[in-house]
Amino acid sequence: MTTTTNEYSVALSFEDGVTRFINVPPGQTVADASYRARINIPLDCRDGACGTCKAFCESGEYDGGDYIEDALTDEEAEAGYCLPCQMTPESDLVLRISGTAEMAKSGIGQFAATLEKLHWYADNTAALTISVEDRGKLRYLPGQYMNLKVPGTEEERSYSFSSGPDADELTFLVRTAPNGVMTTYLKERAREGDSLILEGPMGSFFLREVKRPVLMLAGGTGIAPQLAMLEKIVSSGAAPDFPIHLAYGVTFDKDLVEVEALERYVEAIPGFTFDTIVAYPDSAHPKKGYVTQHLAPKHLNDGDVDVYLCGPPAMVDAVRRYWGSEGITPANFYYERFAVGVPHAPALQPGQDAA
Ligand code: FES
Repeated sequence: MTTTTNEYSVALSFEDGVTRFINVPPGQTVADASYRARINIPLDCRDGACGTCKAFCESGEYDGGDYIEDALTDEEAEAGYCLPCQMTPESDLVLRISGTAEMAKSGIGQFAATLEKLHWYADNTAALTISVEDRGKLRYLPGQYMNLKVPGTEEERSYSFSSGPDADELTFLVRTAPNGVMTTYLKERAREGDSLILEGPMGSFFLREVKRPVLMLAGGTGIAPQLAMLEKIVSSGAAPDFPIHLAYGVTFDKDLVEVEALERYVEAIPGFTFDTIVAYPDSAHPKKGYVTQHLAPKHLNDGDVDVYLCGPPAMVDAVRRYWGSEGITPANFYYERFAVGVPHAPALQPGQDAA
């Protein structure tokens, strides 16, 4: 979301998946801005001497400041490591911070919201459109998720945003589960205008700077975070320098959703292409089987590719095996596994394999 003129937005991504955003005026260090925001990132000397604050910059430009080799080696700096006590942003940044948000005494954000619209694609997939009271305070990275308290219960479930971070209203895709608490709410009790509570944002599965070709792989409602990423690319206004391909697999034809949105992204994003694949053998869909059966060498680019996968655990494992069988090690493999109908936290395991 927007920041005060001249301030940079810095996302602090903690090891427990919590992300907090701070605004940093030009010339101010990330550590000072964090302190003002009452977020206690790891610090000791504050002088570029000890290395305690060492973080990893996922995207953005900055001046690294003054420090000694003991705190940060040239190789580390070259690889993207940085010292928040010394660094001053020169653009919006995403920083991976060592330690948890809890250690930083930074709680997770909670937001009052309203269910504006409930749309069923089929009997098993719903789209929720949600407005948040204080929308300006809910900032997130494309690909992240929120925990949604299920009205009338003590339970919560987690859903990735399918809307881009700049959207006024938030959207989420929900895949139903037999006797699931969210499914029961949506099918039996939900009314437009219902009050909701959202917590987050969470997750380390988010779009990084596009520095090489991108391959997106989505299974089922795993398409949601990919939609948010594509929306962010559109709203940034800059055409990516590299091609982006999405392979979107589902079990049955009726599970395919938001295909029209993907077609719009083909128009809006130069170099974006996508395939839809249906696993069910009796489907009349032109592409059947698994997503890996429909990847071409140009999509793999001899491994010089950043891969973003969101899908069920079996899909993550199958894609990992596929890299092995093809002898490919992607430059970066970011993934998020989800299970339907279970609390998100233990079920969802974001991860990253980097070459
Ligand atoms: Fe010591 Fe940053 S706190 S180098």
